[in-house]
Amino acid sequence: MIVAKRAPAYNFYGNTDTGLTLRWGKTMEENPLRAPWPELADISISNHCTKGCGFCYRGSGDNGSFMPLESYESVLDALTSPVYGSVFQVALGGGEPLEHPAFLDILKATAERGIAANFTTNGELVDRSLAAALDGLVGAAAISTNWMSGYDPRKAVVLADSGIKVNLHFVLSKESLQDAIGLLEGKFNRLLEGVNGVVFLTYKPKGRALAQSCLSMNDSRFKEFISKISLNSCRAKIGFDACFVPLLLRYTSVDADYVDSCECGFFSIYIDELGNASPCSFANDGRYRFNLSAYSMNQIWNNCFEAYREEMLSVKCADEICANAEHCRGKCSFYEQISFCCT
Ligand SMILES: C[S@@+](CC[C@H](N)C(=O)[O-])C[C@H]1O[C@@H](n2cnc3c(N)ncnc32)[C@H](O)[C@@H]1O
Repeated sequence: MIVAKRAPAYNFYGNTDTGLTLRWGKTMEENPLRAPWPELADISISNHCTKGCGFCYRGSGDNGSFMPLESYESVLDALTSPVYGSVFQVALGGGEPLEHPAFLDILKATAERGIAANFTTNGELVDRSLAAALDGLVGAAAISTNWMSGYDPRKAVVLADSGIKVNLHFVLSKESLQDAIGLLEGKFNRLLEGVNGVVFLTYKPKGRALAQSCLSMNDSRFKEFISKISLNSCRAKIGFDACFVPLLLRYTSVDADYVDSCECGFFSIYIDELGNASPCSFANDGRYRFNLSAYSMNQIWNNCFEAYREEMLSVKCADEICANAEHCRGKCSFYEQISFCCT
């Protein structure tokens, strides 16, 4: 399905079958500062997970709460504007989405509204029968890990065989750096069958994730990892989360035209299982959390988030030797620990 949205100085085109999206401003050369309505909603459908990953920023456990199907449908309704229609896509997380008893109904409700659904999983419940049930309901899935010895390569193959694009979400911390270097060196290529891309996620110290495991520029292995990005031998594509963008711009030869700054609160929104909306799932600041029972999506997106946007745009890179300073939106204002090249 093709989705097109237009507003003064904002144009969006998306294809829910391929996942291709294009965005431009008044002209193709201009980038809009923000969307008049979110393009993507990152939705935690529970805070329930029985795996207990030590890196989990949500601290999800086996007694976490679920977002009921009816509440999920209300969230999708709230995300539908009379002017711009619905969001283009949802990224379903948690908790563990596959442990949600109504996960398939959630996917069906999403598809009925013409919204593309993606999800992230710890992979534990992935098998052939689940993959068959997901057929046609999911665009892409991401499997999370932080160590390759604990990664089961059969999970990606099973999903890929059902036509689902699979990415590996590799959480990059002090402890996982060695495997991350190995991924760039191609040492784990035999484990990456069925994997479209490896996305390195900057470890954020929240929930069970501890500050002492955050990356540090004083760690020579982190510098080694960065030095291997441009000429990597990984058989899958590699990508990075938005928190990594300042580092890519400052220390690699990556073309700045292919790098997007953080989209949180500008093009995407996060909603947790209790209906709290905030610009980013990692936001650790209650000032930017608004419950959908108290505010309309229009109020949240077009009024409440303005103070957040002003704060984000006021952060400027002060690095005079960075050739890409003009392309960089600067550090994340939520976590000082992951500000590696801006002060
Ligand atoms: C909290 S998980 C929940 C979904 C699912 N249970 C999973 O394991 O992917 C949502 C996303 O956050 C990422 N994540 C978890 N803890 C993180 C952390 N401390 N820093 C950065 N990303 C993290 C995961 O890799 C995943 O992409």
